[in-house]
Amino acid sequence: MAPVPISLINVGHIDDVQELRKTKPKTIPQRFVRHMTERPTLVTSVSQHNSDMPVIDFSKLSKGNKEEVLTELFNLATACEEWGFFQVINHEVDLNLLESIEKISKDFFMLPLEEKQKYQMVPGTVQGYGQAFVFSEDQKLDWCNMFALGIEPNYMRSPNLWPKRPEKFSETVEVYSREVRKLCKNLLKYIGLGLELEGDAFEKIFGGAVQAMRMNYYPPCSRPDLVLGLSPHSDGSALTVLQQAKGSPVGLQILKDSKWVPVQPIPNALVINIGDTIEVLTNGKYKSVEHRAVANKEKDRLSIVTFYAPSYEVELGPMQEFIDENHPCKYRRYNHGEYSKHYVTNKLQGKKTLDFARIQTKNTK
Ligand code: OGA
Ligand code: NI
Repeated sequence: MAPVPISLINVGHIDDVQELRKTKPKTIPQRFVRHMTERPTLVTSVSQHNSDMPVIDFSKLSKGNKEEVLTELFNLATACEEWGFFQVINHEVDLNLLESIEKISKDFFMLPLEEKQKYQMVPGTVQGYGQAFVFSEDQKLDWCNMFALGIEPNYMRSPNLWPKRPEKFSETVEVYSREVRKLCKNLLKYIGLGLELEGDAFEKIFGGAVQAMRMNYYPPCSRPDLVLGLSPHSDGSALTVLQQAKGSPVGLQILKDSKWVPVQPIPNALVINIGDTIEVLTNGKYKSVEHRAVANKEKDRLSIVTFYAPSYEVELGPMQEFIDENHPCKYRRYNHGEYSKHYVTNKLQGKKTLDFARIQTKNTK
């Protein structure tokens, strides 16, 4: 889909964070300095919560005996309901492929700015190189450079935004995306089974699923206490698969019981989270959990993120299975394409985007 420039928006000058970092400014430009209430607490040690973050062994689901499958389905269901986030090990995505996608992503970000700017994101759109979700001159900026691509279906692609350098970029993205798509389909099958639905329940609803990819590069920051790597948000997808590059410091934090909990990278594992679509379909039984990224004083950090969502043509709303007298319907029905458009044309602000679909209850004092 060709990006549609939104000519009316004025985003002002957006500093490229890597270039900014190179100049080693003594003070952080105001546009990156967060209001007091938004500044991060930089807990990077393994907290109690953190060590509890569920780990799902995918091979037990795909190859286990009956008992292992049942136990892991239960663990998966608990992880989705209580955390909305988990790490998956033995996920069957080739480890060499994880390594190659990391390498080409890093190599891309290390290219000279002029080369990357050939793929510049048009303000108001979300594909290409730059900062997505910026819509006004006074909006605070994230300490991050992004590169994003629509992958599936084919009409999502803007071929002119697929980099010619580094070499094998496109091929690697293709193979990686195919493998991650397989993982998403399988996880959705198991999530469905864990909810006592048919294994293909989600797939049937989704139609030709939409897949997009974003590489986030977070340069070090002399004052990580003042900035955010990525603003708090929930994902507008059904499922998100996040790969934290080898050697990356802790950076991702999730909001659990009103506290920001860091996600400690497990080597070769993938972080999975529930997005807004699954929250709506399950009528809030599984929630899309708010998360953000913080910057690091010494180390840079790279994450490679895949968003998997239903076809834009699909109408979504809570499934009948999750509505009864104790669980009144919490979300209206809407077209997923419209939701996506709403998501990408608003700044990231916690779970506010989902207000689009929430049925406002009366008597909320
Ligand atoms: C995202 C996201 C977190 C990270 O891209 O949606 O939440 O750690 N990224 O990069
Ligand atoms: Ni996210």
